[in-house]
Amino acid sequence: MLTHAKIETSNTLMIVLTLLAVSVGGLLEIVPLFFQKSTTTPINEVVKPYDALRLAGRDIYIREGCYNCHSQMIRPFRAETERYGHYSVAGEYVYDHPFQWGSKRTGPDLARVGARYSDQWHKIHLLNPRDVVPESNMPAYYWLDRPLNDPAIGGKMAALRKVGVPYTDQEIAEAPKALEGKTEVEAVIAYLQGMGLALKQSR
Ligand code: HEC
Repeated sequence: MLTHAKIETSNTLMIVLTLLAVSVGGLLEIVPLFFQKSTTTPINEVVKPYDALRLAGRDIYIREGCYNCHSQMIRPFRAETERYGHYSVAGEYVYDHPFQWGSKRTGPDLARVGARYSDQWHKIHLLNPRDVVPESNMPAYYWLDRPLNDPAIGGKMAALRKVGVPYTDQEIAEAPKALEGKTEVEAVIAYLQGMGLALKQSR
């Protein structure tokens, strides 16, 4: 008979059984989410796969480390919804691989920043935030005003299709053309302007 005293006095047994308990508990919590409709289907038709330009912009957002200061997830608390808009729901993020939720907020949450400012405002702000927000401590990303060069864009879309993003062959084939003549800052702005529109509410 395995008595409690025996478990508590054997390091190995304690470790093995702890790992077992944590794994089973973890799996029971996580696995159902993969199959739950609310987490795997878009909440409405506004939630679409990123087009080529927005996808390229998203990659620049990751490359530049914007996530170090900006979260993209509004929690269901009054203080948050009053400031940012409707709280985030899982069905808004089904095409995000990987998620940019984050929790570090040196700057404001960006989950519903789409359509809040003009493209022009974003351009000035990204190239030098102090030009529009004098007290801002966000870095100036002045180098983003250069031609966008993302030859792997089609391959990225094909890879995303493997994890369930429904890109068509045509969208993948036309991706490089969609980026022609664009700048990096335009791609980032396209990405920002599409953010969080599915559940946007007037503030
Ligand atoms: C060092 C931290 C930091 C980094 C890194 C950073 N930001 Fe910011 N960001 C801020 C702060 C602080 C503000 C608030 C002041 C302002 O508007 O400039 C802000 C504001 C913003 C806003 C306006 C949000 C609103 O609702 O008013 C946008 C959009 C934005 N940042 C986008 C970006 C993008 C895109 C990047 C990466 C290219 C980035 N930020 C990188 C700190 C940062």
